[in-house]
Amino acid sequence: MKKLIKSFKTAPKYSIKWSNYFEIYENLFKKFVNKKITFVEIGIGNGGSLFMWKKFFGKKARIIGIELNPDAKKLEKFGFEIFIGDQSDPFFWEKFYKKVGKIDVLLDDGGHKNIQQITSFMESYNNINQNGIIVVEDTHTSYMKKKGFKNPSNYSFINFCNLIIENLHRRNPSANKSLNILSKKIDSIYFYDSIVSINFGQFKKLNQTRLLENNKKLRNYFIDFRHKGNFIKTINKFEKSFGKIDESSITYKLIRKLFHRNPLITMKEKRRIKKYQKILKL
Ligand SMILES: C[S@@+](CC[C@H](N)C(=O)[O-])C[C@H]1O[C@@H](n2cnc3c(N)ncnc32)[C@H](O)[C@@H]1O
Repeated sequence: MKKLIKSFKTAPKYSIKWSNYFEIYENLFKKFVNKKITFVEIGIGNGGSLFMWKKFFGKKARIIGIELNPDAKKLEKFGFEIFIGDQSDPFFWEKFYKKVGKIDVLLDDGGHKNIQQITSFMESYNNINQNGIIVVEDTHTSYMKKKGFKNPSNYSFINFCNLIIENLHRRNPSANKSLNILSKKIDSIYFYDSIVSINFGQFKKLNQTRLLENNKKLRNYFIDFRHKGNFIKTINKFEKSFGKIDESSITYKLIRKLFHRNPLITMKEKRRIKKYQKILKL
C-alpha cells in the first residue's frame, strides 16, 4: 500500500490530485494491478498522472489519455496513447471507442462540468468491460456555484446519479420497473468525498433479484409488525384507561382503521423527517 502516492511524488511531470484520492484509488483499482487492462484518463494536463498510473498498474496496462489541449499529443513519445478531443462531444466518444474498443477503467479528471461528466458517462457505459469501473473525480463541483459550474442544480452530476441509483434498484422486483441497460450492467455505486465510482459487474449475473425463504413451513408464524407501531401504542393507551379490548369488537376495528395508515400520522412523520433534513442542511 501507499504505492500510488509514491508514484505520484516521483512522477517526472506535473500532476495535481486531492489528498484523499490516493487511498480510495488504491482500493478501487487494486484488482487491476499487473493485469492486461485498458485504462483511460480524461484530462491529463502535463502528463504527471499518466506516469503515476503506468507505474501503479504495471507494464501490461494500456494507458490512454484524453485531452482538449493539443500539446498533450507530445506525451505519446513516453508510450501513452493520446486522443485530443472534447469529452462533452458525443461524436468524439463514438470515434474514440471505434478506435480503442472496450475499456476496463475510465477516470474522469477533465473539466468537471455537468455536461462533461454526464456526457462522458453516458457515451461510455456501453463500452466498459465486465467488472470494469467508471470513476468521476471532483464531484464537489456539483455543489459549486462559481467558476462556471452553476450548481447545485437539477442538472448536476450528483443529481444525475439519482437516476443511476434508480436503475440499479430496478433489479428488485418490488420496485416494479422493467430493467434497462444500466440495470443489467451496474453492480454498485460508491460515493466518497469528491469521487463517485460506478462499478460494473458480471453482466450475466445482473438480472432480477429473487426473494429467498428458508423453512417455508414456518412462514405463518412470522408476523411483520412494520405497519403496526402506531396502532399498538394507541391500543395500549386505550386498554390502560378502559381495560382489555376484544380484537373482534367494533372499538378495536375502529382504532385500527384510525391508527394504522392514517394521513395525520403520515403528516407527523413527514414533519419529523423535515426536521432531520434541516439538521443535515446546516
Ligand atoms: C485537473 S487537470 C488534469 C490533471 C491530471 N489528471 C493530473 O492528475 O495531473 C484537467 C484537465 O482536463 C482538461 N480538460 C478540460 N476540459 C476538457 C474537455 N472538455 N475535454 C477534455 N479535456 C478537458 C484540461 O485541459 C486539463 O488539462
